Amino acid sequence: MVSRSCLCVLGLVVCLIGGAMSERRNITTSRQKRLFSLFNIVTFENEACTTTGAGNLIGTCLTSTECADMRGSPSGNCAAGFGVCCLFDVAGDCSTEQTISQNCTYIRNNGFPSADMTPSETCTYNFNRIDNNLCQIRLDFDMLISLSSAEGACGTANDAITVTSPFSPSANAFPPTVCGTLSGQHMYFETGTTGTAGALTIAKGTTAGNRIFQIKVTYYNCNNLAKAPASCTQYFTGESGSFQSYNFEGNQLLQNMNYNNCFRQEEGFCRLQISEATAMTPDPFLLSDDGDGDVAVKATVLDCATVSYVAFTTPTNTMFCGENLSSKAGDTIPGALTSAPGDSFLVGLRTVGTTLAGYTGFNLNYKQVACP
Ligand SMILES: *[C@@H]1O[C@H](CO)[C@@H](O)[C@H](O)[C@H]1NC(C)=O
Ligand SMILES: *[C@@H]1O[C@H](CO)[C@@H](O)[C@H](O)[C@H]1NC(C)=O
Repeated sequence: MVSRSCLCVLGLVVCLIGGAMSERRNITTSRQKRLFSLFNIVTFENEACTTTGAGNLIGTCLTSTECADMRGSPSGNCAAGFGVCCLFDVAGDCSTEQTISQNCTYIRNNGFPSADMTPSETCTYNFNRIDNNLCQIRLDFDMLISLSSAEGACGTANDAITVTSPFSPSANAFPPTVCGTLSGQHMYFETGTTGTAGALTIAKGTTAGNRIFQIKVTYYNCNNLAKAPASCTQYFTGESGSFQSYNFEGNQLLQNMNYNNCFRQEEGFCRLQISEATAMTPDPFLLSDDGDGDVAVKATVLDCATVSYVAFTTPTNTMFCGENLSSKAGDTIPGALTSAPGDSFLVGLRTVGTTLAGYTGFNLNYKQVACP
C-alpha cells in the first residue's frame, strides 16, 4: 500500500530499492534502456524515515522535487541518497483553519518549541481524506501541555482538545474531549470511508498560561494491519507495558471520559492481566472514594455504576472503582486482575460529568498471560 517515488538518473547500474518491481516500472525501464541507454530509473518506497533535525521526527522518503511540491521540508537523506527525508508540519497562528494533507504531519503550536501564550483562541485542523480507502487516524501527542481545571473539566476557562470523528461503530466509541498534560499519550479515531475525514480543534480557554503542542498525525487505510480495532481510542501492542488515563501526568482525572483502551492479543497469549503501577505518586488508582469518608480505609468495589470506574472483564466483576484496584471488594491492598479466557483484551474508562477534584485516574501495568 506504500506509494513509490520514481527518479531518472544518469548511470550504468539500475539501483533498485524497496519491494517488488511494479509492472509500470519495468516496462519504463526497458523502454528507457532502448531510448537512452545512459539513463536508468530508480524507484523507492515512500516509507517513513527519521529526520536529522531536533527531536528525531518522522518524515516520508520522497524525491527532493516531490518534497518541495508537497511543501515539506527536506531533513536528511534516505533511499541510499536518492531520496530526502521530507518533514511535514503545520504551525502558525490559529486565525485560519489548517488542512492536513500528508500522512505523518506534525501539528505544532505557534512558536513551537516555545509556548503559545495566546488564550481564548481556537485552532482548527481539518483532515483531508488522503486515501480512497481511508479508515482511521492516529494522533500521537508527542508533547501536549494544556490547561485542565482542578475539577477535571475541559473547556471554558481551560482548554478543550476535541476530535470530530465522522464515524464510530458505537455511540460510546467517539473519542472524548481531553485537556491537561497528555505528552506521550495517543488517540485513535475512525474516519468512516466517505466524506470528511474529521477534524481536530484545540480550543484555548480564557485562562492565561503556556500551551505547547506537537501532535503527529498518522493515516491508516482499511487494509493496514497496524490499525487499531474500531472503537479503541487507545491501542497498545506487545506482551507488557503501562497505560494511563488521559492527564494522569497532570495528576487529575478528567470528566466525561467514555472510551476503551485496547490491547492487541499477541500470539500464544490468552488472557490480559492489569495491576497498579508501582510508582506511588500520583496515586496509581484513584477514581472515586468508597463513600465512608475515611480515606485510610480502602474499599474497592462500591456501587461503581454511579461514580467513575474502570470496566474490565473478569469472571466475577466488570466495574472497578474506589481507591485500590483489586478483584476483591473491600481489599485494602491492590491486586492484579486477570481476564477470563476468551474475553476481549480491553479496559474501559467511564467518568462522571461532575467535579473529580482530588482524583488522579489510573496508571496501570498490563501483562499478557500465555495460553496453557
Ligand atoms: C514486470 O514485473 C512483473 C512482476 O514483477 C512480471 O510479472 C513481468 O513479467 C515483468 N515484465 C517485464 C516486461 O519484464
Ligand atoms: C502512513 O504512514 C505509516 C507509517 O508511518 C504507514 O504505516 C501508513 O500505511 C501510511 N498511511 C497511508 C494511508 O499511506
